[in-house]
Amino acid sequence: MQKRITTNWLGIALVAVLSAISVSGILNGRAASSATNLVTPTEQGDKPFDQELALANLRKAIAGQETKPAAEVFKNIQILKGMPAGRLLNVMELGYSRSLGVNCTHCHIPGEWEKEDKPTKQIARDMMGMAKTINNDLLKNIKNLKSASPTINCTTCHRGEIKPALNLPDKPKT
Ligand code: HEC
Ligand code: HEC
Repeated sequence: MQKRITTNWLGIALVAVLSAISVSGILNGRAASSATNLVTPTEQGDKPFDQELALANLRKAIAGQETKPAAEVFKNIQILKGMPAGRLLNVMELGYSRSLGVNCTHCHIPGEWEKEDKPTKQIARDMMGMAKTINNDLLKNIKNLKSASPTINCTTCHRGEIKPALNLPDKPKT
């Protein structure tokens, strides 16, 4: 009985050592190839998602192609096709993430940017369509507005929140 327990513990220890070796191998592989390949998961391994690092890696990966149309540089652009690739990353960082108060992982699995695995990505596309309709069809037809071209964008509604407010925040208690 005593002997069998010892053998099991040895077995478990061996498995632990082997899997540690293979995990570090995968991480090294990722780090080496991430600068050249958009699809490669960012060199972040199992660490918590780091948005600055993800953006830095993407900017490195598209270096020299920033002014080309996004559709030529990226794999699955359906709406922002003609936008310069460098600007698309700014839209992702400021126009989308910041204005909703989220990071990239709200709509993407990091490193698999072209995939459609999160419904929030589809919602974001439909929201672009809604914003376009409001800007081009609805606002334009409201007479006597002050601006020549009144405009809304994601921030107008979201203001740093996933769910736009229906009520003003409570007045601070004084
Ligand atoms: C609110 C959802 C949302 C957030 C947040 C978001 N994205 Fe996106 N992302 C999209 C959508 C939608 C597209 C596709 C746009 C289109 O089809 O025109 C896209 C496309 C991309 C692409 C092009 C992928 C390809 O090869 O087709 C990259 C790269 C990307 N996003 C990176 C990021 C990064 C980095 C962040 C965080 C800083 C981020 N995104 C945050 C919704 C989002
Ligand atoms: C006219 C107001 C308005 C504008 C403009 C707007 N949104 Fe929204 N958005 C909403 C509302 C309302 C919801 C639904 C929230 C809920 O579930 O109750 C929503 C939900 C979303 C969601 C789903 C969030 C979640 O995780 O549940 C995403 C993603 C989103 N919007 C992205 C965008 C993006 C990107 C833009 C700019 C292209 C944008 N929205 C512009 C009003 C707006």
